[in-house]
Amino acid sequence: MTMRKVVSVVGAGNVGEHVASLIAVKGLADVRLFDIPRRDGDKVFEPVKGKALDMKQMLSAMDIDTRIDGFTVSPEGDGYEPIARSDIVVITAGFPRRPGMSREDLLEANIKILGTIISKVRQYAPDSILLVVTNPVDIMTYTAVKLSGFPASRVIGMAGVLDSARFKTFIAQELRVSPRDIHAYVIGGHGDEMVPLISMSNVGGIPLKDLIPRDKLQEIIHRTRFGGGEIVDLMGTSAYYAPAAAVTDMVEALVTNSRRILPCSVYLDGEAGEYYGVKGFCVGVPVKLGASGVEDIIKVPMIEEERSMWERSVESVKKSVDMAEVMLGEKSPSA
Ligand code: APR
Repeated sequence: MTMRKVVSVVGAGNVGEHVASLIAVKGLADVRLFDIPRRDGDKVFEPVKGKALDMKQMLSAMDIDTRIDGFTVSPEGDGYEPIARSDIVVITAGFPRRPGMSREDLLEANIKILGTIISKVRQYAPDSILLVVTNPVDIMTYTAVKLSGFPASRVIGMAGVLDSARFKTFIAQELRVSPRDIHAYVIGGHGDEMVPLISMSNVGGIPLKDLIPRDKLQEIIHRTRFGGGEIVDLMGTSAYYAPAAAVTDMVEALVTNSRRILPCSVYLDGEAGEYYGVKGFCVGVPVKLGASGVEDIIKVPMIEEERSMWERSVESVKKSVDMAEVMLGEKSPSA
């Protein structure tokens, strides 16, 4: 008998709860949700348990038999025992970006939260695959590589699938075609300098640049780059439906061993690092995802214009990596 896979989701906020619900409804895995309690005066609420119970009842109502359970943990790391034997641990815990707040502003607070969670994953689920969602995601993924000591193939950041979905949404709207027939990758850092790969993008096999005039394409690229900010400005908090769907797509590739090629933030070093001009940190590139994690890093061809965009994007990620290294104590501030 093969056991159903277990996906733990740490952080049952907007993104985490939707990840849990999508994974369970799609029947991909049993889900364990973890979050801290919420205090209101003398009253202590355990929203994570309430959400899991509500979702359990939703699954009953839908005749779906995946299991979902919620566990309250402390910010200091108590209560993580049920994370044991998880196949995948999705980390969404942290503070979301508020209007006017840069992704980098979040860095210090979120590194601290990540440190506690990773130490517990190391203790209870040392063979799991880490899927990092917390922003700034390239830096958090790098931090997770460093703090976990896991092989880099088992630490994956979610960004490119979301950015590519946004890109595809705007292309689909412009051309009035199904997003399913659009192949369009966005790579690079998950920031304003992300790199939409126009030269490789196509709709039903026809190159994108032959279908959309250059100035319109530039508008679409701009809207994709600032796609997260557009939603923050409308909602006052960051997006969660599309981010959760992007995580679910990655989880599906991992649990079904599908070997899909998806753009993910991964640790680049060695031969692939050399191709991309990145030495020892995480940036978004297309990778092959299978049961063991990242099975291959795709060396995607870039035209000159894309290569220089790529270099700018990498440079801006590198600056934040340097900041993170100082916070991680790997480098003194004056070094
Ligand atoms: N341990 C566990 N959970 C924690 C901890 C902690 N130490 N600190 C915070 N959390 C939980 C919060 O209680 C909250 O439920 O993390 C959850 C974060 O959820 P939201 O604030 O709703 O944020 P969300 O919109 O889900 O975004 C999560 O994903 O896309 C990124 O930028 C986004 O970094 C953010 C993350």
